[in-house]
Amino acid sequence: MATDIDWDALRKAATETMHRAYAPYSDFPVGAAGLVDDGRLVVGCNVENAAYGVVLCAECGVVSALHASGGGRVVALSIVDRSGAPIMPCGRCRQLLWENGGPDCLVDAPDRPVPMSELLPYAFDAADMGRVAPSIPGRLLEFRGRGTVFVHPDVAAGRRVWTGYWERSSGADGEPPGILDEAPSWPSTVEAVTWGRARTPRVVVVDADGATWWAGVGDGPADMPVWDPGGAAS
Ligand code: THU
Repeated sequence: MATDIDWDALRKAATETMHRAYAPYSDFPVGAAGLVDDGRLVVGCNVENAAYGVVLCAECGVVSALHASGGGRVVALSIVDRSGAPIMPCGRCRQLLWENGGPDCLVDAPDRPVPMSELLPYAFDAADMGRVAPSIPGRLLEFRGRGTVFVHPDVAAGRRVWTGYWERSSGADGEPPGILDEAPSWPSTVEAVTWGRARTPRVVVVDADGATWWAGVGDGPADMPVWDPGGAAS
């Protein structure tokens, strides 16, 4: 949750790492620190080269450190310049961060933390490659971006699994209801949510007791708590 993130600690770690940057060509040292979903902190600095084009941004270091130290997802990131002030990730690094943090990863900015869904709208990702979410059947392509996906628990072979369905109606008046597509099942919610987000930005997680969380892209209904991949409904 955004409120649990110690932004001061992240900025401090990013600033310390910035001092180790190798940036003799631009004289623009950058440091970055990412909070991983299991609480780890991973850091990186920019590393330049006499062949200018092969520069490694600080975020590349963060992503390498993420995998080198056990993987996981980046949930929050601070990137700073030599004064310790936040800077925004370059375009290439937004793509890197999307792959390793997803739409809800928060990036520190001067006025507020900004989610990746705002920094890289309409992103290309694993779902487009059919790697995470099976491709949408052709007959349903016209509904992409519409309706609502409900993710919910189920039981298969005596084990609790997570599945979901794509509801045609988005809740707006006059829209006909009906189930467009049913998801396979997975051991955790994350894959079911990814399946949902490949279909529509409106994704709602419903647990066995009927409690609901917003797991869609952007802001959900004001009265609905935001789904936390490491939280209760996972
Ligand atoms: N740089 C980063 O490390 N991260 C960014 O998101 C923006 C740019 C580095 C690359 C290069 O070494 C220097 O800043 C100037 O572009």
